[in-house]
Parts: sequence; structure tokens; C-alpha cells
Amino acid sequence: MKGLVLAGGKGTRLRPLTNTRAKQLLPVAGRPILHHILDDLRIAGISETIMIISPQTGGLIREACGMSWQGMEITYVEQTHPKGLAHAVSTARTALGSDDFLMFLGDNVLKGGVSRYREAFEREKPEAMVLLSKVDHPEQFGVAAFKGERLSGLVEKPKIPPSNLALVGIYFFRPSVHEVIAHLEPSGRGEFEITDALQGLMDRGKEVGHMRVDGWWKDTGQPEDIVEANRLLLEGLEDFRGGEIRGGRTNGILHLGEGALLEDSVVDGPVFVGAGAVVRGCSLGPGTAIGQGCRLQTVEITGSIVMDHCVLAALTHPLVDSLIGEGCSVQGSMDSSMRLVLGDRSCLGVPD
Ligand code: DAU
Repeated sequence: MKGLVLAGGKGTRLRPLTNTRAKQLLPVAGRPILHHILDDLRIAGISETIMIISPQTGGLIREACGMSWQGMEITYVEQTHPKGLAHAVSTARTALGSDDFLMFLGDNVLKGGVSRYREAFEREKPEAMVLLSKVDHPEQFGVAAFKGERLSGLVEKPKIPPSNLALVGIYFFRPSVHEVIAHLEPSGRGEFEITDALQGLMDRGKEVGHMRVDGWWKDTGQPEDIVEANRLLLEGLEDFRGGEIRGGRTNGILHLGEGALLEDSVVDGPVFVGAGAVVRGCSLGPGTAIGQGCRLQTVEITGSIVMDHCVLAALTHPLVDSLIGEGCSVQGSMDSSMRLVLGDRSCLGVPD
């Protein structure tokens, strides 16, 4: 079985952060989303993965992931226009050859990886298999319809959802799907939909299996989803003290990267502090990840991601659930706590 990671697309819902980077490279728990996905594929025993990239951000993705991931080979295939998930599969058709494949959307994060789902697919041998998760807003996803216990249909972002079970962005296919995709028409929103390909398999009498995911799952389509994925992943973080702690107090799990300094600060974990960061006189609350080489002085921050090489200083109120791009500078007094989403290299000075 091969892996297929979809890391093309535009990422428009994550502007301004995606003006300068691929959304699949945004860091959660201190590492790009794609690195978590590649780990999951490798742990599930996949030895070769094809990565779909766009002309705009493909170079950055190649640089961040390389040609091999701990022994798993990576082949890149460019999709010139993001014409839909099924179109991405057809772009990779030659590279996939006659193998079964596990398709992982490059902006999805799932607790506990994919090994047990791969095992179920190989044991039960359906023609395709989808993973489902209960959500509050099914209209934002592909949604499953059921007749009794049996999966009877799949619809993409329906106005009136037939259930609250969303399609997780992880799918198992056999090569038979290529023939179905070759006959698809674009949907109402102009995309070749993978839900239509799955529906096409069902219409041809093929079995599409389904499994409910056990733990949490996040599609990181919006800033608040990224902050939430970061918080959830940090809960599984291992304690690591590679840097120096001078004074202050720490509770809960802390990852303190090599060469980082934590001085006179209060940490309520789980908290990640990247290598070489300097944190002085701060309070870092649960679900916070501070990037490499950041400088933080007299700042209270919780549930937030601060990307590499930011300077945050002398903030009079807490930063909460924020997403701060790489190389930003934020300083000054505020009237109340703030939730910020800042693109890379933004400068926010709040004068006294
Ligand atoms: O996350 C789960 C949802 O993902 C499913 O419930 C939906 O059924 C499925 O269509 C998909 O919906 P999204 O609107 O979230 O898909 P998005 O456009 O964000 O694309 C998902 C990933 O695939 C993302 O990493 C970008 C990449 N992509 C997307 C398109 C449209 C490509 O590589 N090529 C493409 O043409």
C-alpha cells in the first residue's frame, strides 16, 4: 500500500498566514502538520508516499519534507490547478500504479495515527474505506448518509446534512477508484469531488467500508482549528528539559528545547518552548507552543502558537488562543486580553 498526501490547494481560509507559507506547514505542537502526517504513515508501515503539491508552495514543502522520511520514500507530483480531491488522485495515477493507497489530506490531524484503520482495511477487504467522526457543523464537511447501519451515500458540504457524521480526511482505496474518477463530472462548486468517486463506487455495487475514529480529529481549515489541534497534540507531549530553567515555577508537561532559557517564569503545561527561545518574566498557560529562537519578556500567553523568531514584550494583558506568524513583533499596552492572528513578519506596536 502506498501513501498519498494532498498538500496542494490554496489555503485561502488561512490568510494572511498562507500568503507566505503552505497551510500544511503551519506548526502544531512545535512541528509542521505534514511532519505529524508523515510520522503516522511511516508508523502504519507505509514505505512509499506520493505528495501532491501546488506550483505556489511545492518548493517549500519539498524543502520541509525531503525525499525520504525516516526510510519512507517521498515522491512529489505537481497539480497545476486545485481542481478537487479526486482530480488530485488522478494527477497521481501514474505514480500510484496498481497499488492500494491510503490518502491523507495534508491539513488533517488525527489522534493515535492510522495503523489500526489500515489493519481493518486489509482484514475486511472492502473496495474503499472512509473514516467518520461526529461533528457540530456537518454542513462544512463531506457527510455520510445511512440506511440503518449501512452506509448508503456520501455528500459534499450539504445544506441539509443527512447525519452529523463527517468524512475525516483519511481514505483507503484500491486501484478500482481510478476508473470511477475518470468518469466524474465537476460538482456544483466546480471541483472533482472524492465524495462523488466514493458514491460512484457504491453505485456500481462496490462495498465502501466505514469506521468511526476513536479519539479527536481536526481539519485545520481555520485559525481556531489550528489553535485547537495544537492544544490537543500538546496533551500527548512528552516532558523534555533540553534548556535551562532559572527561578520561576513549572507545573505539568513542558518541552524545553535545546539551548532555550526560561527565567523567572510560570509555566502551566502542556507547553512547548522551541530550541534557543528566551522567555523572561512570563506566564505560559496550557496549550501554548513557542517557536525556536523567540524572545518573550513580561508576557502572559495561553492556548496560542507563536511561530519561530518572534519578539513579544511588555504586554499589559494576556494573549489568548492566538496564532502569531514567524518573525512577528508584538509589544505595548492593551485594554484587555487579545486574540490575535498575525501573518509572518507583522509588527504590532501598541503605544502607551
Ligand atoms: O477534512 C475533511 C474534509 O476534507 C472532508 O470532510 C471533505 O469531504 C473533503 O472534501 C475535504 O474538505 P475541505 O474543504 O476541508 O478540503 P480542502 O479544499 O481544504 O483540501 C483538503 C486538502 O487537500 C488540503 O491539504 C489541500 C489539498 N488539496 C485540495 C484540493 C481542492 C489538493 O492537494 N488539491 C486540490 O485540488
